[in-house]
Amino acid sequence: MSKRVVVLGIQWGDEGKGKIVDLLTERCEAVVRFQGGHNAGHTLVIDGKKTVLHLVPSGILRPEVQCVIGNGVVVAPDALISELETLEQAGVRPRERLTISPACPVILASHVALDQARERARGKNAIGTTGRGIGPAYEDKVARRGIRFGELADPQSCIARASELLDYHNFLLKERYADEPVSLDRVVGEIESWSAEFVPMIGDVAQLIDTVLKESGNILFEGAQGTLLDIDQGTYPFVTSSNTTAGAAASGSGVGPLMLDVVIGVVKAYTTRVGAGPFPTELGDETGRLLAERGHEFGATTGRPRRCGWFDAVLAQRACRLNSVNSLCVTKLDVLDGLPEIAICVDYQVRGEPLDQFPWDARDLEVVDPVYEWVPGWQQATAGIRTVEELPDNARRYLDRLSELMDVPVEIISTGPDRKDTMVLRDVFSPSASMGGQ
Ligand code: GDP
Ligand code: IMO
Ligand code: MG
Repeated sequence: MSKRVVVLGIQWGDEGKGKIVDLLTERCEAVVRFQGGHNAGHTLVIDGKKTVLHLVPSGILRPEVQCVIGNGVVVAPDALISELETLEQAGVRPRERLTISPACPVILASHVALDQARERARGKNAIGTTGRGIGPAYEDKVARRGIRFGELADPQSCIARASELLDYHNFLLKERYADEPVSLDRVVGEIESWSAEFVPMIGDVAQLIDTVLKESGNILFEGAQGTLLDIDQGTYPFVTSSNTTAGAAASGSGVGPLMLDVVIGVVKAYTTRVGAGPFPTELGDETGRLLAERGHEFGATTGRPRRCGWFDAVLAQRACRLNSVNSLCVTKLDVLDGLPEIAICVDYQVRGEPLDQFPWDARDLEVVDPVYEWVPGWQQATAGIRTVEELPDNARRYLDRLSELMDVPVEIISTGPDRKDTMVLRDVFSPSASMGGQ
């Protein structure tokens, strides 16, 4: 019996999804990205060797695993080429194992220019996007004027359509943002070279997945960003432009929702955020700096410092429900080693009063005061520990409390960046692992 497992982030991204996907794909035939684009930065560390992936699924370092980019992903072909080349230089052969859906929207240079022009125009209200053209590419998809990957098979007709789109983008760049237009020659040259490069990798992703399932292969769906960056459920407008939640694993790849068996929610043992927007448990003090320093909290895509704070169980619990998370993975437990006390946000208040509804608007979330529960820390290193029994008692109590607050069992614990610094407490690929039942 094959298992279909979704791995996604429960906070604002960078929870350590890439590491967990790499670990679990040992048991998989295929790994599928289903949303986002190269705004993602997923870090894998194997025997001390670091690989950062943006668009290529995090199963690529396992030579037998098929890597799939589903229709929900916006693809920047130039970024993908440079990622493939970096992998090749490291001795990996990604091309023969990579399949890209023909329905993936293509990110053009003008999308990047528009993303950056819009951010500049927003001034102090900027979202703090990665500046990779993600938002404008999704806008064009929804407006039904975007270029899709399959169109690269017919470069002449693709160029004709891209030229129309570029006219529109350049109008906005010049007239709305007083910015430089993007030259048609550049886009024509790029489309011709992308066509030669990518046509062999384009394939019917829904069909590929179906074939793997018929052969009883396990499939892993790799989320990017995090639940709180979801365009609908996140801290709008400080979000990304795709659905990052579990339902998108189905719509963004071409399987039905009943095909998903296990949803693993990955959470950091504390919280981080890159870019602007509300962050109730953010620490502007020495502890915040300590978490940033010990957790090496710098964005894997832009290198920006990540904002740090205590674990927010109010948001995490909601995120677990939104995704039907039935298995939790807690990462970066080691970063909390040695703290005398640790806070967990268990509720919100405004002006000393409890809230009567969840603050779904970013402006309402901006003004909440976290209600903290303090728990004792542990004065022992957790890095290098291989069994849960060897963890310090207070570390186990902390994990138990997170599990209780989110009402989901903690089944994977990560205590370091390396693949081997991970404890897997339940085999999610075993036949008894299914949605709702543990
Ligand atoms: P992703 O976007 O969710 O894949 O996460 P990122 O790769 O952007 O950020 C996670 C960072 O934490 C990376 O630098 C990882 O190498 C690192 N990391 C992952 N798990 C652990 C852990 O358990 N402990 C420590 N100290 N670092 C970790
Ligand atoms: P992974 O997959 C953390 C954030 C940006 C910004 C907002 C919108 O590595 O977890 P965008 O460029 O998507 O329009 O930016 O979303 N953001 C991320 N933050 N991790 C990510 O990906 C992110 N991808 C986008 O910082 O606040
Ligand atoms: Mg990341």
